[in-house]
Amino acid sequence: MNDTYFVTGALGCIGAWVCKHLVERGDRPVVFDVGGDPRRIRDVLGTEGLAKIQFVTGDITDGDATKRAVAACKPRAIIHLAGLQVPFCRQDPALGARVNVLGTIHVFEAALAAGVARICYASSAAVFGPSEDDGTAVPESGSLLPVTHYGVYKQANEGTARIYWLEKKLSSVGLRPLTVYGVGRDQGLTSGPTTAMKAAVLGLPFQIGFSGPTDFHYVADTAAAFVACADGGPAGALLYNLHGDTVDVGEVVRAIEAECPAVKGRITFGGPRIPIPPLLDGSAIAQAYPSLPHTPLVAGIRATIARFRELHTQGRLDRRDLPAS
Ligand SMILES: NC(=O)c1ccc[n+]([C@@H]2O[C@H](COP(=O)([O-])OP(=O)(O)OC[C@H]3O[C@@H](n4cnc5c(N)ncnc54)[C@H](O)[C@@H]3O)[C@@H](O)[C@H]2O)c1
Repeated sequence: MNDTYFVTGALGCIGAWVCKHLVERGDRPVVFDVGGDPRRIRDVLGTEGLAKIQFVTGDITDGDATKRAVAACKPRAIIHLAGLQVPFCRQDPALGARVNVLGTIHVFEAALAAGVARICYASSAAVFGPSEDDGTAVPESGSLLPVTHYGVYKQANEGTARIYWLEKKLSSVGLRPLTVYGVGRDQGLTSGPTTAMKAAVLGLPFQIGFSGPTDFHYVADTAAAFVACADGGPAGALLYNLHGDTVDVGEVVRAIEAECPAVKGRITFGGPRIPIPPLLDGSAIAQAYPSLPHTPLVAGIRATIARFRELHTQGRLDRRDLPAS
């Protein structure tokens, strides 16, 4: 393919997998991230993969810098993932708004200025609130009553995207994942299941901090959806839910124990349910993009644990998300 894609927040979990997806098919990701540590990309792609990626250190709260970086690489499309997750927005709502809301406007402005025709950006299932949970799958048109600042900011971004379509004819797709899991998922409200997989590889006890069901989406599938929606689709400001496997967190614990029998009984869970309806209706994106992969939960957990084992054997398993022992 040999196309350039501008990927904001690509030093994060989903971004690392987007980079892997693009590199493996011969495209060039330009990583635009305020952070400086490429460890997630290295863990996902290996050291040799890093050489195929261009890194630009930059902050989406700086509109001019974002514009300059997009103009310099003239990408085919922008995949916008940079953002602060629920706990960080809760800690500092003003910073959360600057990064998640203002930063998103800067990314859209940068696309317009550089003539980029398409943006695929990370919204979130957090735009829905628990009031939407009546046991049925929530469609895109479910009512938006978020119960976190983060969810409100994502809701604002969906409105921003709609206005850029109405006023400037800039096409976008917003994707709403819920609980993404896999290598690189080491922060945020729903990162516990992935950290539990890491703890299990190390033979350590770990408590996942929530209970109940949620919608688990394997990160390679999440990345594939972002790339497919950046590549093409109908013009407009589209929005899609991402649905993977909706199961109780206890089922994830059992799958981890099946892969790592030595930790049986030491991976636990407890705490409140995630305040987002656990079952998303993913039929709209499946219809629009019928070739998107769906990795079954057990296979995703197995692949994650296998990669953590490799990294552990190489002495490179990052432990920062594990409690200090
Ligand atoms: N992981 C999930 O389960 C999930 C679910 C729904 C939505 N999302 C959204 O998907 C996106 C990616 O999620 P993730 O799990 O990869 O997140 P992550 O926290 O792992 O990565 C976010 C990245 O954004 C970067 N960033 C933060 N502020 C920035 C700024 N001002 N300028 C440039 N870069 C900045 C960080 O350095 C980090 O590398 C986020 O917008 C998140 O809200 C994630």
